[in-house]
Amino acid sequence: MSEQVKSTVIPPYGGTLVNLVATGAERQALLEKARELPYIQINDRALHDLELLAIGGFSPLDRFMSQADYQGVLDNMRLADGTLFPLPITLTTDADTIPAGAEEIVLRDVHNNTIAIMKLEEVYEWDPAEYAQKALGSTDPRHPLVSEMIRWGDRNLSGELKVVNLPKYFDFVELRRTPAETRALIEELGHEKVVAFQTRNPMHRIHEELAKRAAEDVGGTLLIHPVVGMTRPGDVDHYTRVRVYKTLVEKYFDPSSTVLSLLPLAMRMAGPREAVWHAIIRRNYGANHFIVGRDHAGPGNDGAGKPFYGPYDAQEMLAKYADEIGVQPVYFKELVYLEEEDLFVEKDKADGRGKVAFISGTAVREEYLAHGKPLPGWFTRPETAHILTETYPPRRKQGFVLWFTGLSGAGKSTIAQIVTSLLLEHGRQATVLDGDVVRTHLSKGLGFSKEDRDTNILRIGFVAGEISRHNGTVICAAISPYRATRNEARKMIGEERFVEVFVDTPLNVCEGRDVKGLYAKARSGEIKGFTGIDDPYEAPRNPEIRLDTVNYTAEDCAHQIIEYLEQRGFLAPAPVE
Ligand code: ADX
Repeated sequence: MSEQVKSTVIPPYGGTLVNLVATGAERQALLEKARELPYIQINDRALHDLELLAIGGFSPLDRFMSQADYQGVLDNMRLADGTLFPLPITLTTDADTIPAGAEEIVLRDVHNNTIAIMKLEEVYEWDPAEYAQKALGSTDPRHPLVSEMIRWGDRNLSGELKVVNLPKYFDFVELRRTPAETRALIEELGHEKVVAFQTRNPMHRIHEELAKRAAEDVGGTLLIHPVVGMTRPGDVDHYTRVRVYKTLVEKYFDPSSTVLSLLPLAMRMAGPREAVWHAIIRRNYGANHFIVGRDHAGPGNDGAGKPFYGPYDAQEMLAKYADEIGVQPVYFKELVYLEEEDLFVEKDKADGRGKVAFISGTAVREEYLAHGKPLPGWFTRPETAHILTETYPPRRKQGFVLWFTGLSGAGKSTIAQIVTSLLLEHGRQATVLDGDVVRTHLSKGLGFSKEDRDTNILRIGFVAGEISRHNGTVICAAISPYRATRNEARKMIGEERFVEVFVDTPLNVCEGRDVKGLYAKARSGEIKGFTGIDDPYEAPRNPEIRLDTVNYTAEDCAHQIIEYLEQRGFLAPAPVE
């Protein structure tokens, strides 16, 4: 990585790349010094920002923002010296984590790797509401960055940086290039014009179309530059996406004018301001044209169900700053597919030309992949469909967790046994994590205090989460009396595969049955802290399934669960092709 590598076009914006990476003897000396210095740990977002600062992706910015820079960026998208920079790049921590009196601190990642040494030149307070309102135009917690930033610390740190270790990656190493390396590769291809395509999605035909049309219009190199740092929560993971990009580029793009490179950016989903930021970053990577389509870097809808930004707000904002950045925008109106003509056209040109076909990102997962229904060829290349199917098997092959909860003697274990039989009948295997059995090994030694009960439930939740993540089926049958702990388990396992089954048998019925004789012992005081007697049971408010064991047999209840699973597609019959 060097400043000597010149691109065919020297950007007026950040022509010389910032390089904060220490090498050789300087690095050795810094590493030694780092051993003596106090440190703080930085989160993944800050680490991605630090990496881009270090390799010059944010040039001319060379540090986490000072208060003057930060305020300028919020108020008018400019650093204190007037340089255009649309979004804050801040290093946030809680006041009480800042080592007292330190002039320099080490920045470590979450795995405790030493990354950088920073001079502590400024520590200042910041206001999340102001940040959200000014930079994102909203304080609605539905905005993914708004809901994230309330967990950041209350102070911003700034000062000169020396990076001793860049984050180390082991996946797709050959596609991870610094701005200087990317410029060099672009230069090898020899085209003066370079158009960059930003994406955080698998490339479907529509994306391919946008990118190819732009490259043709511009007449130069196409830089496919997907984000592999952080994107919108719920997006397809980058491993899957990069497998798609690699396959498509090999098969469907012209090697003499296409570069695929990965960008370790942590997106903000800030729509218009983000589009300007993206253009600056791509300028630093050697592009002089940049594609912005519909709803660029859009965060979805707010609490009132309205999109945070208009579909073309990003285009309008970039238009104002394009010259200053030195990037020519390539705009696209929303593209749609015309079935009869087998063609993608801009939406406003589609009227009267027959049926328009459309599949949303959610529909891809929910309607197609989840049910093993093949994605149509007009929508995505077969290679892409195949890779997505590997990551998202049909729901009938996906894991799930049946989480039984209810009083002792409610019938959890009995119903769980019947369900297990029925699952086997449907060709599914199941692991049963029965509360009593788990206490003989996984949770051996734990008692019945609130803390021990919670530990027990979270252990069960952890194991169930791992099994179901790898597409196994798990039945957990423990009293799990506390609502908050069950919700914790729900989070660990994942909302989409957690099925809470409330075995709603009233206390008097359980006590009347008293299969294990425990209620009698609890009443006589022989055992203490018994759920329902002298320890609370917090019934679920919105369980996925509620079972009535008074009016229905255990077998009926088991069938109720099977029906629910069939409805959700977890036990669907083979799809009709
Ligand atoms: S983004 O968050 O990176 O913008 P995505 O990967 O979906 O999301 O989009 C990449 C680029 O393609 C963006 O510039 C976006 O505006 C554009 N784009 C995606 N879908 C369409 C479409 N149907 N019509 C026009 N532009 C689109």
